Amino acid sequence: MSDKTHKQNLVRAQNAVMENEGFAKKGRYRQQYHFTAPAGWINDPNGLIFWHGQYHLFYQYNPYEAVWGGIHWGHAVSNDVIHWEHLPIALAPSEPYDDHPQGGCFSGSAVDDDDKLVLLYTAASESDHGPVQTQCLATSKDGIIFEKYKNNPIIRELPPDASADFRDPKVLKYKDSWYLIVGSSLGEGARRGGDGCVQMYKSADLIKWEYCGAIARSNGKLGTMWECPDLFPLGDKWVLMFSPMFYGERKAIYLLGDMDFDNALFSWEYEGEIDCGFDYYAPQSFLDNKGRRILIAWANGWEWMPWWKDFGQTAGEGWCGHFAIPREVRLTKDNCLQFVPINELESLRTDYEEYPAFILGADERKEIYAGDGIYCELVLNIDISTSTAKQVVLVVRQGENEGVRIILSLDDKEVLFERMDSRGQVDMLKRQIFPDFGIDSLKMHLFLDTCSVELFILDYKMSFSGNIYFDENSNHLFLESKCGHTKINSIHTYGLTMC
Ligand code: FRU
Repeated sequence: MSDKTHKQNLVRAQNAVMENEGFAKKGRYRQQYHFTAPAGWINDPNGLIFWHGQYHLFYQYNPYEAVWGGIHWGHAVSNDVIHWEHLPIALAPSEPYDDHPQGGCFSGSAVDDDDKLVLLYTAASESDHGPVQTQCLATSKDGIIFEKYKNNPIIRELPPDASADFRDPKVLKYKDSWYLIVGSSLGEGARRGGDGCVQMYKSADLIKWEYCGAIARSNGKLGTMWECPDLFPLGDKWVLMFSPMFYGERKAIYLLGDMDFDNALFSWEYEGEIDCGFDYYAPQSFLDNKGRRILIAWANGWEWMPWWKDFGQTAGEGWCGHFAIPREVRLTKDNCLQFVPINELESLRTDYEEYPAFILGADERKEIYAGDGIYCELVLNIDISTSTAKQVVLVVRQGENEGVRIILSLDDKEVLFERMDSRGQVDMLKRQIFPDFGIDSLKMHLFLDTCSVELFILDYKMSFSGNIYFDENSNHLFLESKCGHTKINSIHTYGLTMC
């Protein structure tokens, strides 16, 4: 095995993409403005970085088939985090430590080291005793061709008390030292009820790593394995994010608190959900050249999630997986996080319509027009203080037997996100929306693309993302007021188009 094998495997993978992309592009569920690969399977975003004047996005990739396996790192660049140009695949399985059909080059991150673009990733393979996961490094001078470090892996040993689940390194610099955090499971492991945790290492050169300790861990309730951890400062706080396995309905978490690097300890005073929907996992953040902390996530979920049925209905079209719209992470005065769609998305807007204030009578239903009802955006503002309705319902992508209902229960102070497919199958998630009273109006911000719905609510402190595989005639949008009237302050709608 050598650099030559890596190059050969990259060429073979790239040829497979070229063969399959024409077919995949014709898929009826192909997203318009959400990132997708040219063909094949994608999961987590990796190695997000603003480097040499461009945004780089890498991702977990199977270029051969629209199913998970033999994982490569796909690669794309952008000037605005919206329009992406696909580049050659960056990493392919090629070495004994990462060349396994049930493994490959798993998730990781990117940093600039002395003008070189450095990728840190998990090499995953299988042995007779189960998974073997180690941390590895690859570098590039031009940001396109990556060479794996000849003495990989750079971290071979498991941390004390840790199971074989040991993956997804995220590297950051703090006070002239490199720190690497990595997801782990203490005790029995992810599928046997271990305790999710984040481990930390320190290095001066990205090669030799000294173990510092477990900076945060579950108390038996916060999931069995913390995948894809991320750690960054925001205002005068530190944020630790991760994607916990087997934490009930929760699967993208942030902890807000303080980081003590000397004692390798993260302490937190607040736990929040990054997205409460069905399809939002493994978000990774990066700092852009304007000082914004931007988050990109895989808009799908794994088979161990409570509502999981399949990965969607696109594998037959030769592709599977897309990323949720990029969101900017902001810290509020009351120490919560907001996840705000980046303002570059406004460049996609067309066909603006405005509905001035009106009252929706008790049990009245009104159709709202937003672009073609499929590629569109809607910003709705409801006057809570004077509305008497028990429920305000926003129905999107409504067709004969399918649709998504967003139910604001003013009575129970909760929001329900409900999708019904044409087979009559209903999935529902609900969350409390009023942690405190005194909210006079409530804004809902919605983005729709061919097969996805993303809702932002409660001043961007709460969001729900869900994938839908509906008929193109299911494109109606309605507002309903149940058991009382609803005062609508304003509605702004747009079509969205990628050019
Ligand atoms: C998260 C994850 C990571 C792993 C990758 C494998 O979705 O399970 O923990 O590195 O996917 O593709």
